[in-house]
This record gives sequence, structure tokens and C-alpha cells, in this order.
Amino acid sequence: VTSRASTPAALPRHRDCPFDPPGGYAALREEGGAARLAFPDGTVGWLLTRYEDVQQLLADDRFTSDRRRTSSPVHAFPVRQDDRRALGSFIGMDPPEHTRYRRLLSKWFTSRGLRGLGPRIEEITDGHLAAMERAGPPADLVESFARPIPSLVICELLGVPYRDRADFQRWATVLLRLGQDEDEIYAARDALWEYMRQLIDTKRRHPDQALLSHLANGDHGTPGGPGTATAAGLTDEELTGVGLLLLIAGHETTANMLALGTYALLRHPEQSRLVRERPELVDHAVEELLRYLTIVQFGTVRAAREDLEIAGVRVRAGETVVGSIASANRDRSRFTDPDTLDVTRDAAGQLAFGHGIHQCLGQHLARMEMRTGYPALLRRFPTLRLAVPPDQVPLRHDMLIYGVHRLPVTWGGAAG
Ligand code: HEM
Repeated sequence: VTSRASTPAALPRHRDCPFDPPGGYAALREEGGAARLAFPDGTVGWLLTRYEDVQQLLADDRFTSDRRRTSSPVHAFPVRQDDRRALGSFIGMDPPEHTRYRRLLSKWFTSRGLRGLGPRIEEITDGHLAAMERAGPPADLVESFARPIPSLVICELLGVPYRDRADFQRWATVLLRLGQDEDEIYAARDALWEYMRQLIDTKRRHPDQALLSHLANGDHGTPGGPGTATAAGLTDEELTGVGLLLLIAGHETTANMLALGTYALLRHPEQSRLVRERPELVDHAVEELLRYLTIVQFGTVRAAREDLEIAGVRVRAGETVVGSIASANRDRSRFTDPDTLDVTRDAAGQLAFGHGIHQCLGQHLARMEMRTGYPALLRRFPTLRLAVPPDQVPLRHDMLIYGVHRLPVTWGGAAG
């Protein structure tokens, strides 16, 4: 074990290829996996890059997820310590608090809990693809396919009015864009918070069958009244935080997987053909695209609660440790030929949804949307191709969640 005295460096950011993580990660994996990491707020911590180490980090209760204790790998300012807007955001909580939220929500997000949603996802997908076909080429695939489908699905599941999307998508974009200043970020959070807080009030007064209303009123639709804990045992403020986390996480992530995944498939025509022609491969294809693209590009962030050893290094209490899931998913000691997109491989065990107690709550929902989305798109438009040269596809280097800002496509003429 060492406290390796290497000079702290910032997180690798430069990508040579739109689908590969920054090249710096491969070198770090070779050099031993753990490296000193300099955070924008001036603190120094660690970066883990190997599969085994990242997996261990995410399963290790000597680390906390509390956002008030971790440094951000991308923002220079600390999280405000007394921020009521952190209430309910269980992605940044530890047990036993975290466990309370997962217990309340998990039944809604298991494959069984979501089963009834399958036909609706197909309907929404077909509806959007039909509209795209009617409008004719060219199209921006982000606007006409990748963003609206998960957005409409999560809105219906939660009971958030889809017509309000221009507002909450604009605020969410501010939260997820790098280099925004602190005041802009907090203003967007306030706006989102107020929006959701009012929506929770509305659910109390006019209960419906969707998730937020159930959490607010219980399964029997008996409102608790303002200021009282909800039937699910959450205060209105906690429920507001839960609603926001689900709304934002449910939007941005799957939308970017659908768009970037399609871009990757268009650049690998033999892989698109397999997805189009061999329906039995779709589960493998989705898992492989998740692995290959790992859109949570800056990794998962934890802080050590005590002095400890991991990945062959000594970490001091309070230091932030970033586990790069993008790097772990390209570790050749875990995946054969990891830099090749191969939709026939079994990519089970990939870490794109994280690992351990915080592993993505929405993963089954996201998989359902992707399993429906990619084949439906490729079958309806067998000649789908980029409408611009690849170097003109704008990449989301500037966002917490990687992907493409736009994906201009066209179709018609001979199948490619
Ligand atoms: C957690 C990725 C879709 C809701 C996570 C984490 C990752 C992730 C890596 C773990 C974060 C950590 O350990 O710090 C993704 C990807 C998605 C996706 C790649 C799409 C392809 C969704 C959807 C929802 C969602 C559709 C909607 C419900 C959540 C929530 C958490 C989470 C609530 C926090 C879980 C907890 O702390 O217990 N996601 N996600 N995600 N995700 Fe997703």
C-alpha cells in the first residue's frame, strides 16, 4: 500500500473519439488504477479507474454519498450546507435515511412494478416515430425521438404535466451544464423546487393515480393536509425533493442513451443491422451500449468517513474519491476487447447504472425504453443515416451527462 506521491491532476476530459472515454483513463488503469485527483474547489482526493476498484468503492460503507462532504469533480463551489433543497434527494444520503426512501419507491421501479407500462412505452415510441415519418426527412433525432419519449414516460409515471416540459427542461439544463456560475445554478434549483412544491400541493387537493399522488396521499387517496407528514411518511418538502430527483434523473439519462446509442449504431452499420434483424439480441445490445457509452461521464463520487485503504492506496478521512464507471467499463481485465462495440456480447456486470445501494433506481425503466426504442427506430427507418458529416454532430462535453446536443439524420433512397 502506498500514498502514491504523484502530482495531482484534474479529471481526464479530452476525448479523441465521441464514443470512447478520454484516453487518459487507459494510461491510469495501466499505471495502477488509483491516482491523485485535483478538484476544482482546490481540494485533493483520488480517482479510481479499474473495474474491480470502482465496484469495491460503490459497495463499501466506509464511504459516504453525502453531497455536503464530497468535492465535485466539475464545480468549483461547495454545496450549500443548510440547503433545504437537498431534502428528499436520496442519491446523496446514506443508510438508514437512504434505505427509508428506497423502500418506499422500489416497488414502483421493479420489472414487475413496471410491467403494465410496456404497452404504453411502445405506443409512445410508435407515435413519435410515425410523426417523424409524416414530417419527412431530415430530422433532429434528439427532438423527435430521444428526448420526448423518456420525458413523456416519466411525466406520466410521476403525474407531472407534460405541457410544462419547456420550463423544467430549461431549468434542468442549467443544473447539468458545466461552468455555470453558482447563482445561476441555485436560481434554477429554486425555480424547479417551487414548481414541484406547488405540484405536490395540487396532488393533495386533486389526487390522481400516478406515483407522486400515491406518495402524497397514500393508496386510499386521503390527503394529509399541508404541513403534515404525507401518508408515505414524508414531509411535503421531502416529497418535493423525491419528485425532482426522479423527474430530472428520468429525463436526461435515457434521452442521452437513446441519442448517443443511435449515433454509435449509425457509425457501426454492421451492429445496427444486427439490432434491426435479430430481435433476440436486443437485451444484449442495450447492455452493451450502456457499457460502451457510459454517459455518466464524470463518475460516481464518494468521501471516506475514516482513514482507509482501497485500490492499493491510503485514503484519509474526508478525502473525496471518484470512481470512473466509464473507465471501469473499458477495463480489459473485466471485458474482452473492451473498446469494441459488440452487441452480441454479454455485457452483464457493466457499471453504467452504478453498483451497491445507490445502483440506479430507474434502470428497469431505462432498459424498457431502450429495448423498445432502438429496434423500433431502426426497423421503421432502415435507411437512417447522418445528415451531416460526423464531425458536425455537437457532443455534450459540456454537460454532466454525456451524449449529443443534436443528431441530424435523414432517410430514404437505398438501404445502407
Ligand atoms: C442512480 C445512471 C436512468 C433514477 C443512478 C446512478 C447511476 C445512474 C450511475 C448511481 C449514482 C451513484 O451511485 O452515485 C443512469 C443511467 C440511466 C438512468 C445511465 C439511463 C440509461 C434513470 C431513470 C430514472 C433514474 C429513467 C428514473 C426514475 C435514478 C435515481 C438514482 C439513480 C433515483 C438514485 C438511486 C439511489 O441513490 O438509491 N443512475 N440512470 N435513473 N438513478 Fe439512474
